[in-house]
Amino acid sequence: MSGLDFAGTVAVVTGASSGIGLATARLLAGRGALVANLDLAPADGDGIALVKCDVADDGSVRAAVAEVVARFGRLDVLVNNAGIGAQGDVTANDDEEWHRVFDVNVVGIVRVTRAALPHLRAAPAAAVVNTCSIAATAGLPRRALYSATKGAVLSLTLAMAADHVRDGIRVNCVNPGTVDTPWVARLLGQAADPQAELAALRARQPMGRLVAAEEVAGAIAYLASPLSGATTGTVLAVDGGMHGLRVR
Ligand SMILES: NC(=O)c1ccc[n+]([C@@H]2O[C@H](COP(=O)([O-])OP(=O)(O)OC[C@H]3O[C@@H](n4cnc5c(N)ncnc54)[C@H](O)[C@@H]3O)[C@@H](O)[C@H]2O)c1
Repeated sequence: MSGLDFAGTVAVVTGASSGIGLATARLLAGRGALVANLDLAPADGDGIALVKCDVADDGSVRAAVAEVVARFGRLDVLVNNAGIGAQGDVTANDDEEWHRVFDVNVVGIVRVTRAALPHLRAAPAAAVVNTCSIAATAGLPRRALYSATKGAVLSLTLAMAADHVRDGIRVNCVNPGTVDTPWVARLLGQAADPQAELAALRARQPMGRLVAAEEVAGAIAYLASPLSGATTGTVLAVDGGMHGLRVR
C-alpha cells in the first residue's frame, strides 16, 4: 500500500451517515478500502456498509466491531468521528447533559478504540484518526461543554498515541473549523438571523468561507494513510487558518 491507496484495507468510520464522516467514508471507499459506517442512523444510499451502532453503548459498540471483522476479516483504519454538540456557557446544561455529551464525544472514542484494538494490533499499518475541533484549542463563546469534550479528545489522542506507538498503531486527530455540514445547517436554522450568523461564521475563518466536509476528509485520509507513516500524536488543523492566523 502506498500513497492514498487503501486497497485491501478495512476502515471503520463512526458517524458516517452525515457530514464529515460521510465524506470520509466516501473518500476511503473511493481509494479502495472496505468501509463500515458505525452510526445510529442510515445514510441515503451511498453504498457503504452500515453497521448500526450507538457509540454511547458498550454492548452495541462491541457487537458492531465484531460484525465488521466477521464480515471483512480485518481492521486497519479507525476514524472516531461521531459526535454531538452543546451550546451555552457553564450554566446552560445540567449534570445529566454534561455526562451525556461526554459519553458520546469522549467515552464513545474510548469504547470503539477499545473494541478495535486487538484487530488494529494485528494490522500491518494501523491508524486511528479522531475528529476533534478548533474548540479544543481556541476559546469559542457559548461552547463550554462541547469545548471541554474536544479538549479531552485532544489529550486522549496524545495519550493513545503514546500507549500504542509500540503496537505499530498511529493515532492522530484533525481539528476542523466551521464545516459546511448538516450539523452547521441545523445550528444556522436555529439562529435569529441565519444569513447574519452564516456571514459571521465565514468571517471568523481567515479564508472567509466555511470548510468543506471533503477537505476534512482529505486530512483524515492523509493521517490514515502510509503517506503520514512517521506521524503520530499530532493535531492537523483544517480550519481556513482560524487557529493560527491573525489577519487584517
Ligand atoms: N461541522 C463542524 O463545523 C464541525 C467542526 C469541528 C468538529 N466537528 C466534529 O466533526 C464530527 C462530525 O460532525 P458533522 O458536522 O459531520 O456532524 P453531523 O451531525 O452531520 O454527523 C454526525 C453523525 O454522527 C452520528 N452520531 C451521533 N451520535 C452518535 C452515536 N451516539 N453513535 C453513533 N453515531 C452517532 C449522527 O447520526 C450523524 O450521522 C463531530 O465529532 C463534530 O464534533 C464538526
